[in-house]
Amino acid sequence: MRKILFAAVALSLAGTGLAADAAALYQAKCVACHAKDGKGSAVGKKMGAPDLTTLKASEKEIANVVENGKGKMTAFKGKMSPDEIQAVSKYVKSGLK
Ligand code: HEC
Repeated sequence: MRKILFAAVALSLAGTGLAADAAALYQAKCVACHAKDGKGSAVGKKMGAPDLTTLKASEKEIANVVENGKGKMTAFKGKMSPDEIQAVSKYVKSGLK
């Protein structure tokens, strides 16, 4: 019983850690073009960045764009680990939360 409890606590801690990392990653790598609210900075809009909060793309498609870039968007392959790309894509897919 105690073991199960410990596992549950460890899991929930890991969960919050991931969310915090994803938010920090988004701040560091994406805000310049997509803005804090995901609707696009002035610079990003000029380049054609879409509103990330109304995106229909799946998490996998988002990860693919982050990894390989699209249009004027930078590719992050080699600049972010696969785990980081996964985390930030999940963050975008869940409405930047
Ligand atoms: C240099 C500016 C720039 C940065 C930095 C940037 N983006 Fe983008 N992003 C764009 C532009 C421009 C587009 C539109 C691309 C197109 O459709 O031509 C775009 C499109 C997207 C899309 C939509 C893809 C689709 O399916 O149409 C997603 C999702 C996205 N970006 C996520 C991110 C994430 C997450 C980050 C940070 C890891 C990021 N972007 C960093 C400029 C940027």
